[in-house]
Order: sequence, then structure tokens, then C-alpha cells
Amino acid sequence: MANFQDYLKPDHHGMAENHTRFRRAFAEQRENIARVAAALHPSTVVCFGAGMLNDIPLEAFLRWGAEVHLVDWMEGVLEFGLAAAIVTKTRTGPDCVFCTLDEAQASAYCGSFSEKQPGAGVCTAYDPTRNTTPGCDSYERGSQPHLHTQDVTGGFARAFGDGAQGILAGVDSWRQAFRRGQALSRKAKESVEPLDLADGSIDFITASMLISQFEAEPYRYFSKLAVDTLGTPSAADEKRLKGAMEALRSDLLTTQIDRLGREIKRLLAPDGRCYLSFEMFHKDGGDWYFVQPMAAALQQLAKRFRFDFQTTPESAVVSRYQGVEGESVIHQYLLRHAS
Ligand SMILES: C[S@@+](CC[C@H](N)C(=O)[O-])C[C@H]1O[C@@H](n2cnc3c(N)ncnc32)[C@H](O)[C@@H]1O
Repeated sequence: MANFQDYLKPDHHGMAENHTRFRRAFAEQRENIARVAAALHPSTVVCFGAGMLNDIPLEAFLRWGAEVHLVDWMEGVLEFGLAAAIVTKTRTGPDCVFCTLDEAQASAYCGSFSEKQPGAGVCTAYDPTRNTTPGCDSYERGSQPHLHTQDVTGGFARAFGDGAQGILAGVDSWRQAFRRGQALSRKAKESVEPLDLADGSIDFITASMLISQFEAEPYRYFSKLAVDTLGTPSAADEKRLKGAMEALRSDLLTTQIDRLGREIKRLLAPDGRCYLSFEMFHKDGGDWYFVQPMAAALQQLAKRFRFDFQTTPESAVVSRYQGVEGESVIHQYLLRHAS
């Protein structure tokens, strides 16, 4: 099994192939976030877990002149996502998010920006890609938006993933593997690497579908490594180990939520808002399953934040998501500081 860094590497080929499907699947999330941006007119935005930007309405942030920071821990995913997200094909022709800005701004976002084509959504340098994803072959990254390839849990999840191979080498039982996993989690908690952004400086933070992933990673990586060494646990093993398995999984999730919550609280301006969305129900084989750990995560965040149903009404809490791996019911909330 690859080390954690390689394990996290995005599959560019798969992402390019599925780009249109993912953009469509995340359309509702993009619209929800754009609606909040239109209500808040933020000057500074941070998108946690921005990944491929499928759920990030960049144009809505730039319309209000916001300074945008995109954060993800997967090496290269933001660069790839950004290049794929800037051009859309409309009925009247291609539309580039950057070319439609004023000229000074457009040059800050694209090093190749030349001059606007009258009546067109792209500049004179526009060169359509020959890839499966839409884009512009002339696009060169400018000084904006700011990309941060970093762990949003302040280094905790990363330190756990990085240490997993080492602690599982030579392990001879599942019980020992989980004991070592717990010790590694304790050690990973010593890691504190906040984003290089000032306290209270961000008007709007998005954490769209991010905590749903916390539920899977880095636990999934740990258990895959353990299976590589120990083989698939028998049904009897699974029954015996259920408590240890759940304890580690829950510890990883709780700590990631705690770390994310702390970072949101630190960065958010006094009147700032954080858009939080996650999968609350998942459809599997015809039945809807309640994603119980997300209810616990929400409860955890509710101790630190208040909910805003003014900027977006309570009727906007639920939406549908038709993903590649099935259908989900998504919950989305706006968090603000507790007064
Ligand atoms: C389900 S995706 C959200 C959708 C994503 N914005 C897109 O366009 O596809 C979750 C994203 O969060 C990122 N992520 C998960 N855990 C993270 C962490 N601890 N630090 C930073 N990014 C993380 C993943 O790499 C992934 O890109």
C-alpha cells in the first residue's frame, strides 16, 4: 500500500473523465453557497476542502471582489480543479470567470490575460483545451486566488495518516493494531499547524461536504494498511473488535471536527458566517440510512457555534445529491460565532 501522501494523490484521469458528472451533482451546493455570498458580500472567503471546486461558486465570490483562499490537502487537486472550473460553455459561447473581471483583477487571476474581446466572455488569448474538461490552454495561474495545500485539521489527520505505516509494520494481531492506532492518534494530537491567515480575518468560510470525508479518512487508510498486514478479519474477529474499531473511528472523527471547529472559530470575523454541509442520509440498496456520526458531529459543533436561519431560511437546510456512488440527502447550515 502507498504511503499516505501517495494514497491521497488525486486520480487526474478519473476526475477529468467524470468532471461534467461531478459538476452536475454539486450544482445545488454551488447555488446554495452563491446565494449566501450574494447575501453577505464577503471581502474574504476561505473554502475548506475545495478539491476540484465542483461545489465552489468562484464567480459569485469574485463578483463582490472577495479575496479567495482555497484549501485542500491533496497535492495538485486545487490547481487541477481551478483550471477546470474557470471556463463554462454557454449558448452564446465560452465564458471565463476571470476574463469577465475588470482588467487589473483579471491579470491578477490569470498571467495570460490579454484584453477583453468585445461582446465575448473570454479575452483575446483564449485557447480552448482539447481535453475532456473545459478550460483554456492559455490559462496561467496568477497571484490569485490563494491556494493552500494543507490539512484543515491543523495537521492532526495528516500526522495520523503519515504515521500509520510505521506503527502497523510487524503488527501481529488486530487488537494490537487498534491499540497502536489509539497511541498514534494521541501522538498526532500534538501536531498544531494552523493556516497562515490572521485571526478574525475571514468573512465567509465554506466547509462543503468536508466532514463527510472526515468520517472515512484517515480511518479507511489505517484499516486498509492493517488488512494488508493481517488479512481480512473473520466475522468472529469483527465481533470481538467492534468496540476497539468504533473507539478509534470515533476518536479520529471527533478530533478532526474539534480541530476544524477551532480553526473556523479562530479565522471567522466577528460577524462572519461558515457554510457547513454534509451527508445526513445515504441510499443503499433501496433503503435510506441515517449517517449517525454526522449527527454527533453536528452536536459537537453546536457547542461552539450558533445557527443562522436568517441569512438562509430553515427551509434551505435539506438538499439532494446524486453522486457516483449513490444518492444522498445533504444537510446544510450557516454557523456564526456564539455571542
Ligand atoms: C467530498 S470532497 C468535497 C467536494 C470537493 N470540493 C469537490 O469539488 O469535489 C472533500 C474534499 O475535502 C478534502 N479533505 C478531506 N480531509 C481534508 C483535510 N483534513 N484537510 C484538507 N482537505 C481535506 C478532500 O481532499 C476533498 O477534496
